[in-house]
Amino acid sequence: MSSSLKIWHPFTNAALDPSPIFVERAEGVWLHTRDGRKILDAVSSWWVNLHGHANPRIAAAIAEQARKMEHVILAGFTHEPAEKLAAGLRKWLAPLGRARGKPELTHLFFSDDGSTAVEVALKLAVQYFSNLGRPMKKEIVALEHGYHGDTAGAMSVSDDSPFTDPFRSMRYAVHRVPAPYLYRRAEGVTEAAHVEHCVRILAELLEEKSESIACLILEPLLQAAGGMIVYPAEYLRKARELCTQHDVLLIADEVLTGFGRTGKMFACDLAGVAPDLMCLSKGITGGFLPMGVTVCTDRVESAFRSEDRMHTFYHGHSYTGNALACAAANASLQIFEDEPVFDRIAAIAKINAERLAQFSDFAVVGETRQIGTMGAIELRADDAGYLSAMRPKLYRFFLERGVLLRPLGNVVYVLPPYVISADELHQVYDVIVEAVQTLF
Ligand SMILES: Cc1ncc(COP(=O)(O)O)c(C=O)c1O
Repeated sequence: MSSSLKIWHPFTNAALDPSPIFVERAEGVWLHTRDGRKILDAVSSWWVNLHGHANPRIAAAIAEQARKMEHVILAGFTHEPAEKLAAGLRKWLAPLGRARGKPELTHLFFSDDGSTAVEVALKLAVQYFSNLGRPMKKEIVALEHGYHGDTAGAMSVSDDSPFTDPFRSMRYAVHRVPAPYLYRRAEGVTEAAHVEHCVRILAELLEEKSESIACLILEPLLQAAGGMIVYPAEYLRKARELCTQHDVLLIADEVLTGFGRTGKMFACDLAGVAPDLMCLSKGITGGFLPMGVTVCTDRVESAFRSEDRMHTFYHGHSYTGNALACAAANASLQIFEDEPVFDRIAAIAKINAERLAQFSDFAVVGETRQIGTMGAIELRADDAGYLSAMRPKLYRFFLERGVLLRPLGNVVYVLPPYVISADELHQVYDVIVEAVQTLF
């Protein structure tokens, strides 16, 4: 009998998927394996890494903080790394509201990861109306193709998929509205008409049910796990207007899009939209440590500041506001201040655009999509979706050539750390071209 527990790997079927690869160390965009290989991490290790693996500045900040104080309870206490992060984030978030004369995001609630940041946002939205004496305003609207995480509430607002299928009984009901997925629009319908159609359905729902709907949750501009679907800012702006009109809170799930992925610090910046609540995670610590953050406006938080104890937000995770994670996040924000991070992002975006343009020549390519550092190629497939037979073939093909890419079914995408060089990014695209030319 084995002397150690067997690690049960996420999103992995031990009967079907290749054995895990043993990584010994990682630096920049490279994973160095125990068997002497170098693998280029073109997905930022599940979209978390921004400034490169083992970034020395973030590593040093964590080490320094660990020698001072690793973690303390955040209920009733606070500490410098958390306060510093709150100030640092406020600075980056302020333009969202201020420049547009809209309410600013002023309060921050810590949690552990993207899913819990989403759970917090949903619970805040529902309790907000309850605290205001409107408990009937508790229903949630979410988009088709949306993905918001794997905990029960996050799964509920995520669209139906192989990830959620076994858990139907655990998911609560939400109103599901169509997403402006332009490539999948009905034949003969223009892009503008499709967006209008999606807006109209949302408008009708909010009009009819404004007394019972608390919030709309969406991934701004990029529906990521649903297939790297990039959609027009027009939809987001209209959704914002409708939410305001019907007193529905808008939750922007920027768990992936936050921290520069789309070309601006936040996708909401790009669209000129100020949400009522925003979920952040993944890149927040530069990819070093888990952390979730939900930020909200003063209007939302003020409903919880009350003489009535029952208006308290009774939610908190053991590692809330972890000082090491805060130190990593502060170091990452400092890198945004000191280094030409947005130049790096722009350089990636430029190469993405150039290389994606080449794919239109291939018959198997249905559509290419890009926003900032994310470049995607949707391949034509009879079995389109996460379980497409293309996926395992592509995944192995890329790995055999030393590139880590994890296609979302028939959608191949690139989402590298910002420190990737031009040569390395071209190498990734060369491998994708080879796959498209030889596999299908
Ligand atoms: C938009 C979005 N929200 C939430 C999550 C869940 O984050 P986590 O995996 O950290 O729980 C993800 C994860 O991919 C995501 O892309």
